[in-house]
Amino acid sequence: MENKELIQLAIEAQKKAYVPYSKFSVGAAVFTDDERVFTGCNIENASYTPTICAERVAIFKAISEGSKSIKKIAIVAGDEMGYPCGVCRQVMMEFAQEAEIIVAKNTEEFKVYSLKDLLPHGFGPKDLEGYNV
Ligand code: THU
Repeated sequence: MENKELIQLAIEAQKKAYVPYSKFSVGAAVFTDDERVFTGCNIENASYTPTICAERVAIFKAISEGSKSIKKIAIVAGDEMGYPCGVCRQVMMEFAQEAEIIVAKNTEEFKVYSLKDLLPHGFGPKDLEGYNV
């Protein structure tokens, strides 16, 4: 899966964002360990807190359909580079620890990060090893 192709899918997903409150549209596309693609957009709510980010929609779609982990995730947000929020970085700690995180403005302008870049010293599944037996 080429980065540009994944970004294009994120751009398509961004068009489906349900954002009556923020008007800030986000799109994400993930490429999984078993080589499938899932997309997501942010979906807001009148009660605000049930709002979910595009990244988590895409990741949870993949996991709920049987994929085990995320190899790449492309994110587009608003008109600038689409950096993921802290909650989504934490969810990546669970399912996308080794992923290439493609933060994009469009298919030509993007940067690729590791999760270590975006969430240094993150807390994850390994930190609970030995406790939850
Ligand atoms: N949002 C995302 O979809 N992803 C992020 O990583 C940052 C924030 C959404 C949530 C809300 O619908 C809107 O952007 C404004 O916060």
